[in-house]
Amino acid sequence: MSQPEDNLLKKVIAHCKEYGYVFPSSEIYDGLSATYDYGQYGVELKNHLKHYWWESMVRMNENIVGIDAAIFMHPTTWKASGHVDAFNDPLIDNKDSKKRYRADQLIEEYVAKIENKINKEETKAAKRFGDAFDAEQFRATNPRVLKYQEQIDTINQRLKEAIEQGDLEGLKALIEELGIADPVSGSRNWTDVRQFNLMFATELGSLAGDSNKIFLRPETAQGIFVNFLNVQKTGRMRIPFGIAQIGKAFRNEIIARQFIFRMREFEQMEMQFFVKPGEELDWYQAWKEKRMKWHRALGLGGENYRFHDHLNLAHYANAACDIEYKFPMGFKELEGIHSRTDFDLKAHEQYSGKKLQFFDPAEDKSYVPYVIETSIGLDRLFLAMLCHAYTEETLDDGSQRVVLKIPAPLAPVKAAILPLVNKDGLPEKAQEVFDQLKYHFLCQIDFKDAIGRRYRRQDAIGTPFGITIDHQTMEDDTVTLRDRDSMKQERVPVHSLVETLREKCALQSLLQQL
Ligand code: GAP
Repeated sequence: MSQPEDNLLKKVIAHCKEYGYVFPSSEIYDGLSATYDYGQYGVELKNHLKHYWWESMVRMNENIVGIDAAIFMHPTTWKASGHVDAFNDPLIDNKDSKKRYRADQLIEEYVAKIENKINKEETKAAKRFGDAFDAEQFRATNPRVLKYQEQIDTINQRLKEAIEQGDLEGLKALIEELGIADPVSGSRNWTDVRQFNLMFATELGSLAGDSNKIFLRPETAQGIFVNFLNVQKTGRMRIPFGIAQIGKAFRNEIIARQFIFRMREFEQMEMQFFVKPGEELDWYQAWKEKRMKWHRALGLGGENYRFHDHLNLAHYANAACDIEYKFPMGFKELEGIHSRTDFDLKAHEQYSGKKLQFFDPAEDKSYVPYVIETSIGLDRLFLAMLCHAYTEETLDDGSQRVVLKIPAPLAPVKAAILPLVNKDGLPEKAQEVFDQLKYHFLCQIDFKDAIGRRYRRQDAIGTPFGITIDHQTMEDDTVTLRDRDSMKQERVPVHSLVETLREKCALQSLLQQL
């Protein structure tokens, strides 16, 4: 990713549209803000990412099973979960620019700027001291860094208190004291901070009114909690065990920008892992490590990930962190890992009047399990993958190509079958090869244009292998197999194509790294 970073995001957005990965939703009507449609290649990549997650959870762990719960749930679910009362964002408007912001994010961005200053000091000092530089010692002793750190700690502490106490005036006071200006207009003319509930509501059946009000789920997690006993009993599950789910979630985000990073309709892949009370923090640590390993196996660069431990814990958590990825717009949350205590199951017990407990034969007693949750946004994962995969290259002959270097097991189309010329029986042979491969892989067959142009088209959609049918094929039944990334070609007998591609495209290569 040697691109200037915001340029890269723009290029990825344009590429996604041009090559059938992501389109603005209902585009013929000028689109709908923060909603997107996945095109013919996008849906394939998304399905492969889901598959990788699902297999790593459900197939690789004998104590994790999956479900698919409904999007609509009984409205009391959201009362019990705390979403009706507490799933709010503090909203603030700038009176001059008329732009709307999340008050807490304005403050967090201010803190990030101070963190940047610390990083700059460190980089400067590292240059000055060379090999003798000790970053840890520098941060612990440099007076300027210590002053910045003190500012950060004070602001974070005040932010935490204001959020926890729902102190909207405190948030506004902090914004004013720090002199935070509207990032667009530079104006400091702010409205008061107000709470804004992020759930979309609709009505069930034909009667309008509060008694019929239901919500589009803002997270998939609650579908798992309300099915805890169903799954535990029918699956004869014993603690510790997990329930995984992939599905749509909906949030009326105040600010929804940055393409598919923050949408109002998106997809989550969540797993709730039920454990014995008291063991949750060990499991939390274990899942943190497991999830980071999962990300790294994707090959998007180990240096592009980091943990961010939460200062402001959500109402249900006793420990929480994000796995952040270095998107073109900086390090941002990709996945959340939360130790949710017994908050959700206890709340559902209370509101439903049903016991949601596990009888532990070893302890000879029942208890409400504690929960570790891993929750990843599928669309964000998709964006991370594309930003990393998008590559512009100048070739030896001076020509340019854009190539999506998506790992072969996840690439939408696995192979393109390309007859060198459109005569001498080559197209028929290409069709024969396609008909052989189609039972195993999604392939394309392309007869149009010069071979170089056809390669460029396949590079742009990220097809890892090109199979060229030439005159030699007609003599010895071999084809050339071109590797997308190295552009190297090897000769392969037609009869061994399935096996060769299967080996190169196996999801196993990722799963084995876990
Ligand atoms: N059940 C816990 C939960 O929902 P979260 O941190 O609010 O936690 C989990 O969301 C993940 O869902 C995030 O890490 C992010 O990847 C994704 N996500 C959340 N809001 C999103 C949005 N508006 N658009 C796209 N992805 C989103």
